[in-house]
Amino acid sequence: MRLLVVRDPDELATAAADIVQEVLERRPDALIVLPTGNTPLGMYGELVRRHAGGHLPTARMRVAQLDEYLGVAADDPQSLFGWMQRSALGPMGVTSDRVIRFAADAPDPTAACRAYDAAVIEAGGVDLAVLGIGRNGHLGFNEPPSGPDAPTRVVELSAESRAANAAYWSGDAVPERAVTAGMSTILGARKALLLASGSAKAEVVRRLLDEDPSPDLPASLLKHHPDATLIVDQAAYPGEGGGET
Ligand code: PGA
Repeated sequence: MRLLVVRDPDELATAAADIVQEVLERRPDALIVLPTGNTPLGMYGELVRRHAGGHLPTARMRVAQLDEYLGVAADDPQSLFGWMQRSALGPMGVTSDRVIRFAADAPDPTAACRAYDAAVIEAGGVDLAVLGIGRNGHLGFNEPPSGPDAPTRVVELSAESRAANAAYWSGDAVPERAVTAGMSTILGARKALLLASGSAKAEVVRRLLDEDPSPDLPASLLKHHPDATLIVDQAAYPGEGGGET
């Protein structure tokens, strides 16, 4: 895993957007897994600016969701898909027909997970997976422990993940379960980009850098990936002013 330490969230946004842009310039119909969360917001802002300026070729870009709350309809504004549409897809001109979504409110969510994976395979596989890291080391909603073969599936959210997402639910209870792209799908991406920003992530970044790959820290399994890059800002980088949480 390559490590790129940048100064601040703005540099992180630029560096991450550069990698997305490179992938799209090489392959305009690239299939890119995109995350929700605070960390990628700056990258989306930068990509939207580049798109608005005519510098980012998104006309054929394809996107796959990383995760979704179980039982929440895609048109529910609290769905992760709704968030993604408002923050990234709409402003980047990526239409819904180019998005592989989870049918998280389908009567049989396990079948919906299989349909997601089948759609990813049918699309030729993932060219780039952009990922945030949870404070517990999760990728998507692959909570620890999640091994490299963990499939796309229904998961119970950890208390930590539910607390981290409470801000998006304005007083409503955060769903207890979700669907997530499996570790196998994420690790199968041709290229992976992991982003970590802010002092709250310094401890998990320290573990990621220090520990051997293990299901107990799902993000660490990216160390076995042939083309993974970790971009971390100084606040999240242990020893560079990070470490205080
Ligand atoms: P964050 O979430 O970007 O909002 O910190 C990342 C994650 O929990 O995967």
